Amino acid sequence: MVNRKQEYFEFEAIHLDDDSQTHRYVQLEQQIRRAIVDRRLPAGSRIPSSRNLAKLLNVSRNTVLTAYDQLISEGYLKSSGGSGTRVATVLPETFEHKTAKLPAKHSSIGTEELSRVGKTLAQQADPVVLTPQKVLPFLPHVPAVDEFPIDVWNRLTNEQSRWTRKHLVLCEPIGYRPLRESIAEYMGLSRGVECSPDQVVITSSAQQSMMLLGQLLLDPGDVVWVEEPGNLPANSVLELSGAKIEGIPVDEEGLDLTAAELKRSPRMICVTPGGQWPLTMTMSLNRRLELLARAQESKSWVVEDDYNGEFRYNGRPHRSLTSLDPTGRTIYMGTFSKVLFPSIRMAFLVVPPALAEAFAMAKWLQDRGTSPLPQMVLHRFIETGNFVKHLRRMRTLYAERQRFLFEGLQEHFGKDVVVTLPESGLHLVVFGRTEKIEQRLIAAAERANVRFHLVKFYAIDPESDSSRGIILGFAAYGKKLSKRALRDWASEFHNC
Ligand SMILES: Cc1ncc(COP(=O)(O)O)c(C=O)c1O
Repeated sequence: MVNRKQEYFEFEAIHLDDDSQTHRYVQLEQQIRRAIVDRRLPAGSRIPSSRNLAKLLNVSRNTVLTAYDQLISEGYLKSSGGSGTRVATVLPETFEHKTAKLPAKHSSIGTEELSRVGKTLAQQADPVVLTPQKVLPFLPHVPAVDEFPIDVWNRLTNEQSRWTRKHLVLCEPIGYRPLRESIAEYMGLSRGVECSPDQVVITSSAQQSMMLLGQLLLDPGDVVWVEEPGNLPANSVLELSGAKIEGIPVDEEGLDLTAAELKRSPRMICVTPGGQWPLTMTMSLNRRLELLARAQESKSWVVEDDYNGEFRYNGRPHRSLTSLDPTGRTIYMGTFSKVLFPSIRMAFLVVPPALAEAFAMAKWLQDRGTSPLPQMVLHRFIETGNFVKHLRRMRTLYAERQRFLFEGLQEHFGKDVVVTLPESGLHLVVFGRTEKIEQRLIAAAERANVRFHLVKFYAIDPESDSSRGIILGFAAYGKKLSKRALRDWASEFHNC
């Protein structure tokens, strides 16, 4: 049942354009008719008196009376003497006709009416990407959500939900200060990145971080070097800023700069040194130093996307690019999507001190800042030691799950596949020994309902030989589930 206050909002939302060629009473009549047709004003509901509405909209009473009269004559409104004017309970023919057509309300509007960027996005819109996928083996990008200490999180959420009035106003657009303090401290301890909380910018995702970087550091036409294959959705965000994306190949040591020697200097270089997405290799120390020297020479920004840097299972950890860079041109990008859970929608950037205000302003313009409650809960989660505890548990669990999948692939597919054990990350990449075998593996996985992504989904040139490979996530799947999926997959593969 819609109450009177709700109905009143419909009238408050009426906007009469003084500059329009259309008379104000016609505009008013059209907007009330639309609200009735859309059922925002339900049948039988009372509408304001002409005097009150005239006052509310700052128009003459005559304007309102003329509009009401027209709607009464059409049968949308009914004047009921002493009890005022109401929306008719039996609606006119025209109403039935219009509601029947409601689903096609905007049918005359096509994508050609979108902006240049809008048209590109409409072309890229992919139902698979826009619909959350069922979390089944071996869908990548998913951590072990069933192992997340949900009780602790709920307890901290309850604790933080007991708000006082001071919580009802906005916090700083770059994020809740205590959380930024915790992150700054953690960056020093775990990544060797010495920074102050003022340099930490909380965003809603690595994607939003990229959007800010694109807006603040790139001009249209600027060249950005990205890994090929790499983080394609991040590339798309940078393209929205008018940047020119150039894919640079990767080899077993990471970004291969020899392939870029003759290229025009970039304004920005984006890399995933902790575990290349999607091919998993760790960038060697030599390559890190080479990359920083190249960036220094061309005065390029370097973006270090450390999306899964917490999960290293063997090999000595390399120093983060950001900590190796004496010039301060490297920007660290972290996210909590993998370390905690994907729906947390929280990530952060560590930016040079002099740029922090520009980032704050851009974040303020975009959304006034990320919602405070999840930030407060996350801060308590870190402060109470639960963050580090969870990380340690997950590191051990993921190392086991990684090995289990690695060995399972060898056991079930033997010499038909090539698979290596990465030092870090939440996924493996498996290659068919030949392209034909890889096609058979993909077809068998589809028949067996095994989930996967393909490396070519993340390649600028999906047809290139370097875009081969099947990406398999392992972090979210226990041994029983993985075993069954491997068995079904292998049985489909070997039986045809
Ligand atoms: C390379 C890379 N960086 C970062 C992310 C995390 O992005 P977000 O924080 O938007 O979930 C992803 C996606 O899962 C990724 O593949």
